[in-house]
Amino acid sequence: MTATTATVVHEVPSTLPADDDHPYRTGAWRPNHREWDAFDLEVEGHLPDDLEGVYLRNTENPVHPSIGLYHPFDGDGMLHSISFGGGRATYRNRFVRTDGFLMEQDAGEPLWTGFYDLAANSKLDGWGARGRMKDASSTDVIVHNGVALTSFWQCGDVYQLDPITLEARGKAPWVQDFPNPVGVSAHTKLDEATGELLIFGYSAEAPYLHYGVVDPAGRLVHAIDVPLPGPRLPHDMAFSEHYAILNDCPMFWDPELLAMGAHVPRYYRDLPTRFAVVPRRGTTADVRWFEAAPTYVLHWINAFEDGDWLVLDSFFQHDPAPAKREGTPKGMSLYRTIDLDRLQTRPHRWRFNLVTGETREESLSERVMEFGMINPQVAGRDYRYAYDMTGKPGWFLFDGLVKHDVVSGTEERYAFGEGVFGSETPFAPRPGATSEDDGYLVTFTTDLNTDRSECLVFDATRLSEGPIARVRLPERISSGTHSCWTPASQLAPV
Ligand SMILES: [Fe+2]
Repeated sequence: MTATTATVVHEVPSTLPADDDHPYRTGAWRPNHREWDAFDLEVEGHLPDDLEGVYLRNTENPVHPSIGLYHPFDGDGMLHSISFGGGRATYRNRFVRTDGFLMEQDAGEPLWTGFYDLAANSKLDGWGARGRMKDASSTDVIVHNGVALTSFWQCGDVYQLDPITLEARGKAPWVQDFPNPVGVSAHTKLDEATGELLIFGYSAEAPYLHYGVVDPAGRLVHAIDVPLPGPRLPHDMAFSEHYAILNDCPMFWDPELLAMGAHVPRYYRDLPTRFAVVPRRGTTADVRWFEAAPTYVLHWINAFEDGDWLVLDSFFQHDPAPAKREGTPKGMSLYRTIDLDRLQTRPHRWRFNLVTGETREESLSERVMEFGMINPQVAGRDYRYAYDMTGKPGWFLFDGLVKHDVVSGTEERYAFGEGVFGSETPFAPRPGATSEDDGYLVTFTTDLNTDRSECLVFDATRLSEGPIARVRLPERISSGTHSCWTPASQLAPV
């Protein structure tokens, strides 16, 4: 076996204190500042020859202390890339060199407040639906037209990187054509069947929500307004073969406080959750609204058409606004809104009748899970399996992975083990697959026991047996948010 070659190609200077004790800048959230190139990574077990492609994960890596309160979604975006081919593995990681990151590097200090602080305290104007925020491009990553695209949950630019080398490729030009004044939200959705990227963006300005389509060659070919009653905080969207589905959940900035310049999300439990169903190339006049029980949803799993019905699956928050709880450690109570256990996020199904306008809904599982992935070949189509993460109670950390059969209701879980946390885990279809779950599951771990990170590869048909391969990374990486798998066949631009 060839020995691993691992090189630090750059180290980004940080002004974080050596004795930093913030719960989301230490432990599994300890940020990375070194950028590595590592080849011929050490593999324990068997790396399948037909696992060919790249696993990308975005993470939040703060470089400077925050101006005020820190939220783990404020940190600068860093992509981690592991590519597989011929039974070998290559790893790289790079900061997303956003405009805000570069300006703070020049300044040597933070210039913008984060999500938990007043926009007015930022030193400069900035980005985001809230405004005066840094677009850290740290939330999401997807590969479209052979290019990795990173994006930010409060909207902003879409940054482009080579998915293997992580070389910067500028900003996605189509964002300039999209009518949302603050850009595009995280959770652009790729439909592999058409090569289209479906996008949305929201802002504090009427009409508050926009939807669009980027064609396989990377051109914005469709954009419409989806008017809302006021500013909202949609995080994700869904699609079926013929429809896009956007949402108006009753969790939004308190209008009275907003008028005074404070952005305080509040849950309005007496308002319904509303769903906008629009043909994928439809107009504003084509938007149909469906109402359902109040909740907030971060992530949708999948949607598909079933005769007159449109079926939508996601994680229903049974307590979107958890109350403060006695005994919560000092400094942790603020972060109860990213604790899956407190939000009670459970798989849920809505059915919208496109003829009668009726809505039905039901729970799909009693288990608290989130960050669901599917075989991308069944996105927008009837499907059977979701691969979801379980959370460590009290934290925004993933302690296990569940294969959820949404047809039979059975669940199979793999626990990472005490002190080991995984990443959102995409499904990599096996070339020549004969069933929906014929493929691999790929994730990164952050192991506090050994101070290491690994990439784990599972056979998706035998999840509970544990990983078939463990690939050692050169340095322990921080926890983060979203990830994607792109097969080698989709790495070339159209
Ligand atoms: Fe997200």
